Amino acid sequence: MKFLIQPYSDSAPVTEPGEAVTVRVRDGEVVTTSGAERTDAEDGHVTGYYVVDRDTRQDAVVAAARLPEARSHRVDVRALESAPDADGAPSSSLPVETERLTLRAFDENDLDALHDLHARPEVARYMYWEPWGRGRAVEALGRRMQSTTLAREGDSVRAAVVRRDTGVLIGDVHLQWVSAEHSRGEIGFSFHPDAQGRGYAAEAATEMLRLGFETFGLRRIIGRCDDANTASARLMERLGMRRESNFVENEFVKGVWTGEADFAMLAEEWKAG
Ligand SMILES: CC(C)(COP(=O)(O)OP(=O)(O)OC[C@H]1O[C@@H](n2cnc3c(N)ncnc32)[C@H](O)[C@@H]1OP(=O)(O)O)[C@@H](O)C(=O)NCCC(=O)NCCS
Repeated sequence: MKFLIQPYSDSAPVTEPGEAVTVRVRDGEVVTTSGAERTDAEDGHVTGYYVVDRDTRQDAVVAAARLPEARSHRVDVRALESAPDADGAPSSSLPVETERLTLRAFDENDLDALHDLHARPEVARYMYWEPWGRGRAVEALGRRMQSTTLAREGDSVRAAVVRRDTGVLIGDVHLQWVSAEHSRGEIGFSFHPDAQGRGYAAEAATEMLRLGFETFGLRRIIGRCDDANTASARLMERLGMRRESNFVENEFVKGVWTGEADFAMLAEEWKAG
């Protein structure tokens, strides 16, 4: 299979899984590639690149990657699950089963559901971003497919939350390893409006805390939300996280000054139940 490294745009086509390609990036620009050819940006606002099948350019997912800060990035479009890590982190901490849910790694079939979830204004309302377009969903899915373990600081585990009874993807949760020095992680969650108000988010987020404390040995896990996002604040309180601070008008988000509520839990508090 031949690949193109294609600058990110909302309408970029994407391809089937295939071989591994290596991309080198300088100042947000692809400078060299191996196993792939680069194409030139049509405008000056490139925020990421796709790996695109040169021949078929099929509109199915793949390995999209956001590359601007990376100096070198290897995109394995055949096996997007992380390879076993030299530091001994499990190659994947997923899937996880709960009473009603499966938390599993994202795969290329999740594009429509992930897009449908994040294209909704009510889901994006308290986020830093606007509702997603299709291209944003493709790019985000590519990153999610590669985010299955915490091998080094900055990594995330991102899980698709699927109802066990219907198989429908209802949520998108993550745990990020924010700081190695401070042994700190952060959780986040988004659920489809049709699936809210049933305790699914709490059921899934509990498992992200469990992963953080029990599998990865983090000492402290935080969660942050817009202080007007009462559903998110209630959820974190239900999880047993402590409300630690409330910043007043500390960020300018989507044209308005917003406050931020911060929540946290320590490993010893998790253990104590
Ligand atoms: C934040 C968010 C994930 C919370 O979802 P949620 O469904 O309200 O949270 P939970 O899963 O804990 O559900 C709790 C609600 O379900 C109800 N519930 C119904 N059946 C339940 C059950 N079997 N078990 C537990 N709770 C149940 C609870 O009473 C509670 O209702 P309440 O909020 O009116 O008190 C959701 O609002 C969301 O996705 N928002 C958009 C994205 C977003 O803002 N994310 C956070 C960014 S910081």
